[in-house]
Amino acid sequence: MNWFRDYLLPRGAASHAGEVDGLFMFIIYLTIFFFFFNGGLIFYAVRRWRRRSAGETTPHITHDTRLELVWSVIPLMVVMLIFFWGFKGYVKAWVPPNDSIEIVVTGKKWVWQFEYPDGTRTLNDLHVPVNKPVKLVMHSEDVIHSFFVPGFRLKRDVIPGRYTELWFTATQPGKQQVFCTEYCGKGHSDMLATIYVDTPEQYEVFLREGDEQVRKMPLKELGKLVYENKGCATCHSIDGTRGQGPSFKGIWGHTVKGADGKDYEVEANYIRQSILSPQAVVVQGFEPIMPTFQGLLREREIQGVIEYIKSLQ
Ligand code: CUA
Repeated sequence: MNWFRDYLLPRGAASHAGEVDGLFMFIIYLTIFFFFFNGGLIFYAVRRWRRRSAGETTPHITHDTRLELVWSVIPLMVVMLIFFWGFKGYVKAWVPPNDSIEIVVTGKKWVWQFEYPDGTRTLNDLHVPVNKPVKLVMHSEDVIHSFFVPGFRLKRDVIPGRYTELWFTATQPGKQQVFCTEYCGKGHSDMLATIYVDTPEQYEVFLREGDEQVRKMPLKELGKLVYENKGCATCHSIDGTRGQGPSFKGIWGHTVKGADGKDYEVEANYIRQSILSPQAVVVQGFEPIMPTFQGLLREREIQGVIEYIKSLQ
């Protein structure tokens, strides 16, 4: 009967999908059975006890204790079975294993943003390794959204001002569609995301080199994205305003005076060093407060920042 399940549901691709399907199909078959069973009884009764002559009267029957017990106790047992079966699955589905990879999910009109343990962020594309438990910690920046992955048999509301969680272990490499299933405004039906279930090697490449966006975006644009998303903008302006750190405007190719009194030319190696070992040279008049971005930026992202600064003449 797998064709029937495949007709009703997308193919299950996460660890507990089988369990959800088992219970779901049990309820479907039970419903089909009782549809025909009850319908058959009604047909039988209508034929068997139909009024045969004009003056016929029915006997006065108030109740039948045995019959009432049968139709109360059997359904009670069936619904208790469904309850405990469902409760067991519910507990399993909501308690993530301790070694899960934790990914922060932010829903906002009308995109899904994902943040990985290493600080990598992606929009509408979620990369996860196959056969590893993944926990999603979700919140919303505006209204209520709902994160729904049919192939994983998972759905949970994403709410402003509080965290909700989901977890899964993807079992099939490939793509999964994510929908928003809480009506959240005019872009609701466009609020889609794709989960890429990667092999361990693909996931490594993704973490090291970034997603398609990081690998293919022109360097200057990538640099601008890094500047905006990784916190550079909090201290370094791009319009010449003095902040906690020197502005990026017009520094490329010029020399700056270090706290040690020496002159340094702002070129690729200088910028690279300033990102990875910011205390090596501190520009005169500024505090040595910049944290290192060692391990937080990929090689291509650093090149992007260099190109971006170069463009700010
Ligand atoms: Cu977000 Cu609907």
